[in-house]
Amino acid sequence: MEIINSFFIDTNQPLKGKKILLGVCGSIAAYKSVFLLRLLQNQGAEVQIIMTQNAQKFVTTLTFSTLSQKPVFSYLWHETTGNQDWSQHVQVAQNADLIIIAPATMNTLSKLAHGTCDDALTATVFSASCPVLIAPAMDKEMYISPQNQKNLNLLKEFGYQILPSESGFLASGLEGLGRLLEPEKIVEYCISAITPKILNEKKFLINVGPTQESIDPVRFISNHSTGKMGIAIAKWAFRMGAQVTLIAGPTTVPIPEYLNSISVKSALEMFEAMQNHFHEAEIIIGTAAVADFKPKNYASQKIKKIDDSDTMNLELSKNPDILLELGKQKKTYQKLIGFALESQNELENAKSKLKKKNLDLIVLNSLQQEGATFGHDTNKVFFISPNYIIESELLHKEQIAIQLLQIIANL
Ligand code: C5P
Repeated sequence: MEIINSFFIDTNQPLKGKKILLGVCGSIAAYKSVFLLRLLQNQGAEVQIIMTQNAQKFVTTLTFSTLSQKPVFSYLWHETTGNQDWSQHVQVAQNADLIIIAPATMNTLSKLAHGTCDDALTATVFSASCPVLIAPAMDKEMYISPQNQKNLNLLKEFGYQILPSESGFLASGLEGLGRLLEPEKIVEYCISAITPKILNEKKFLINVGPTQESIDPVRFISNHSTGKMGIAIAKWAFRMGAQVTLIAGPTTVPIPEYLNSISVKSALEMFEAMQNHFHEAEIIIGTAAVADFKPKNYASQKIKKIDDSDTMNLELSKNPDILLELGKQKKTYQKLIGFALESQNELENAKSKLKKKNLDLIVLNSLQQEGATFGHDTNKVFFISPNYIIESELLHKEQIAIQLLQIIANL
């Protein structure tokens, strides 16, 4: 089926081959742009630096030209040398896949909001047709001033994407809003900006990880799920434009900060959180390895060893099957997607789960497959809908996530 190959993303280097213009303005946060440059390059981007003249008071052009292996673009013309290249800003802008201005000062924001075109950076931005991201950085009072807030709103209206500023310690010694967003997060926004928005504004509800079923205050029953597959799906859904709510059991893989996640421990807590968000969600994906059983009685004190006994009996009771219960509810606009981990009669078992749980799609993992399932970075799956079966190759879990999301976009 063609639907899973409509585009390819290199998940190791999502910015591979992309031409990014990094605009640097005169803020103390300009030193962070040096790290940002490196991070963008690590993701495969080819970066051209554009500096305002004020930026050069904080970081030298030598630093940036050495690291970007390109001359820094800073002057529209050289009065003394008679620069022939007066239209360079147009070529630079038209060749770019993305512009990120970080840090953007109050001065440059004001120029961009009001059409003042008096340096290499503003001239390039006004000549561009690619997405423009802006990461403001300034002191607290400047940031919240009505003039700056109005300019930010105007820029949003013009279609620029304004990244949030962080709150915290500022170079002036004050504390508050206005810090440059951390470079790692800026990179995330850059990746999102160039990822095809096939899930634009779709509301996703995804559960991930194992659950922990407490026996007593110190012990629990759980399983080997790390949450890798579910987090990869949530991450790429977000990058493809979805609004993601993640209901996360105790995963061993860290959850990206930009995802809206709710932490839970037990299956019952996960069930409650999924029910609370079910009606507002359009796509519900159950990737969690929900414990099927929990201790029937929770011991409020630590259970003691009994000296003359070599065994201990623990009575278990069934947990709710979250997907099964959600599948029983009236699905209006919702699509329900489950995972199945099987070790025998795999296709048949998965197909019967698809039906029994009233799912729109089930992703089958096999325990027989080497390099797949728990803890591995790779996976090989079957995507099974009531109308078709698609077999994937053994791929990185992020590639499987991208294939799944392409199928979901077409459901
Ligand atoms: O029936 P089985 O456990 O194989 O089904 C796996 C699918 O059902 C997964 O999508 C899993 O998240 C979901 N599930 C659930 N609640 C359970 C057990 C599994 O939602 N108690």
